[in-house]
Amino acid sequence: MDRESSSKLKGKSAIVTGASKGIGAAIARAFVREGASVLINYNNSEKEALELTRSLDSSIGSVVSFRADVSKDPERKALVSKALGEFGRVDVLVNNAGMITRNSFLETTESQFDQVIGVNLKSAYFLCHAVAPIMLNQKQGKIINISSISGLAQISTLAHVDYVVSKAGLIGLTRSLAVALAPYVNVNAICPGTIETDMIAPLAKEKKESSASESLLRRLGTPEDVASAAVFLASEDSNFITGEIVTVAGGRGMR
Ligand SMILES: NC(=O)c1ccc[n+]([C@@H]2O[C@H](COP(=O)([O-])OP(=O)(O)OC[C@H]3O[C@@H](n4cnc5c(N)ncnc54)[C@H](OP(=O)(O)O)[C@@H]3O)[C@@H](O)[C@H]2O)c1
Repeated sequence: MDRESSSKLKGKSAIVTGASKGIGAAIARAFVREGASVLINYNNSEKEALELTRSLDSSIGSVVSFRADVSKDPERKALVSKALGEFGRVDVLVNNAGMITRNSFLETTESQFDQVIGVNLKSAYFLCHAVAPIMLNQKQGKIINISSISGLAQISTLAHVDYVVSKAGLIGLTRSLAVALAPYVNVNAICPGTIETDMIAPLAKEKKESSASESLLRRLGTPEDVASAAVFLASEDSNFITGEIVTVAGGRGMR
């Protein structure tokens, strides 16, 4: 759906990890539409990232893409340096990059566990670590961690233990960082329900239908549903909100 700009992020600069496709790409599109300068991070999907970057209207802010495997420390540091070099500041960090293996618990190897935790959790921890001094120096910043309803301990979402651990870890990271970086940096998380992206493409039709039927709104989510929440949490509209976990799941597992 095409949504109109209201320049909620004019003058802001943002890093969105894993923005070559899916939810991250929708967040990058929405941020640019709202006037932000955006660094689009990708790892493997260079073609998609470059196409997205070219397609975005950068007449208000600037849009750059940057390859970095966020599970690797030197690449994370290069990513933050690139954003600072391009924009001179970092107002918003969205830790969105993520992966899922769908191993059963007993099949999980230590190296698979390390990979899932490295991409989904450790990356976010150390990207926050890298941008926090910049945001504290600016006396202003917004961090948004893309967790999942899998991190909220709802029984039907607890299938993949390594993934669940990583997403629950992001919730702990969000709450404790909201304390550690107050009063200058707002730190919030978004917990999407099942969202139609490549990540859920391997799921059977029946599994997708059962996820949709658990939602009060009787549908799966779209990347744009998540992007709208991210714009709110990145904008001044959410200045008095920190340490919160915003569920974007059409009421699935309502608490
Ligand atoms: N889809 C859902 O139902 C759902 C539900 C709850 C939460 N989430 C979360 O939402 C986030 C986005 O998921 P999605 O559904 O949009 O998945 P997706 O379409 O598979 O996209 C994943 C993105 O993460 C990037 N990525 C993966 N590993 C990376 C790495 N090591 N370094 C940098 N980027 C990396 C990918 O980049 P490349 O392709 O360039 O490597 C891609 O842009 C994830 O954190 C996911 O766990 C998704």
